Amino acid sequence: MKARVGIIGVGTIGSIIAKRLISRGYKVFGSRRTAFKFKGMRTTTDNRLLIRNSDVILLATKQKDVNELGWRIRPYLGDKLTITLMAGVSISQVERILGANRVARAMTNIAFSDGEAISAFCCNNKVSPHDKAAIKAVLSTGGKVMELEEGLMDSFTVLDSCAMAFYSMLLNSVNVSASKTLGFNPKLAKWIIMNTMRATLEKASGSETFEELIRQVSTKGGMTAAGLDVLMEGDLYGLVDRAYVAALRRGMALSAIAEQS
Ligand SMILES: NC(=O)c1ccc[n+]([C@@H]2O[C@H](COP(=O)([O-])OP(=O)(O)OC[C@H]3O[C@@H](n4cnc5c(N)ncnc54)[C@H](OP(=O)(O)O)[C@@H]3O)[C@@H](O)[C@H]2O)c1
Repeated sequence: MKARVGIIGVGTIGSIIAKRLISRGYKVFGSRRTAFKFKGMRTTTDNRLLIRNSDVILLATKQKDVNELGWRIRPYLGDKLTITLMAGVSISQVERILGANRVARAMTNIAFSDGEAISAFCCNNKVSPHDKAAIKAVLSTGGKVMELEEGLMDSFTVLDSCAMAFYSMLLNSVNVSASKTLGFNPKLAKWIIMNTMRATLEKASGSETFEELIRQVSTKGGMTAAGLDVLMEGDLYGLVDRAYVAALRRGMALSAIAEQS
């Protein structure tokens, strides 16, 4: 039987997960601090009521709201299987601040809405094999699921959740250049970019590495090589690396924010 899922914090990611779970036949109960309506879901501002009526609790509030949430639900979370989606917030923080015992920490991305996400989770030693099956079932409604050690969760967040925005920004920069410099209207440019990107991913899904693909396309002294030279001179690899380091550091800061909020 499907677990009844209670989502505390039906914001951006909470809504995406709620919609997907509802479409897969799950009974979902969602909360915010202010009253709201959501198609197919019972809603409340009373987290105690939500906890009482759910088998699995998904925590999807911002890190800054964790402490306040803790004052309100600490005595009630008890032994409910609790899955936190909050980036940077550790299992031990959820145990300590929110008083949860059976805790999993999960991460996913907005492709959950189409069943195309990769989600990862880790759990504490109070989570049983039966609980794990329930966690996997919930997360797999949104796509592929993997179990990771907790030490990799922040890195996974960067590579999975943040990366969708990073890729979109890189592609948007191509879109801007295509209309500004190459003379295409933005809509047609986007269509060409999407198709070229799809073909690139298709090629890369074989045994070829990205480096081999770069070599295949760039003829010495040709147009591609001229463009690649500029990307290298501008230290594209260094820039991407600095972005990933910054995102990882922010994960640590969010953990501290959850502590102090
Ligand atoms: N956005 C993503 O792609 C993504 C992906 C994976 C994980 N995450 C993680 O998910 C969390 C939420 O991110 P988000 O982007 O979805 O933020 P968001 O849109 O601001 O959603 C947070 C929600 O929490 C609600 N909330 C705050 N305190 C509450 C309380 N005490 N009880 C019930 N609801 C409460 C807020 O509504 P009210 O203000 O009305 O209470 C709001 O709807 C973050 O910790 C983030 O790291 C986000």
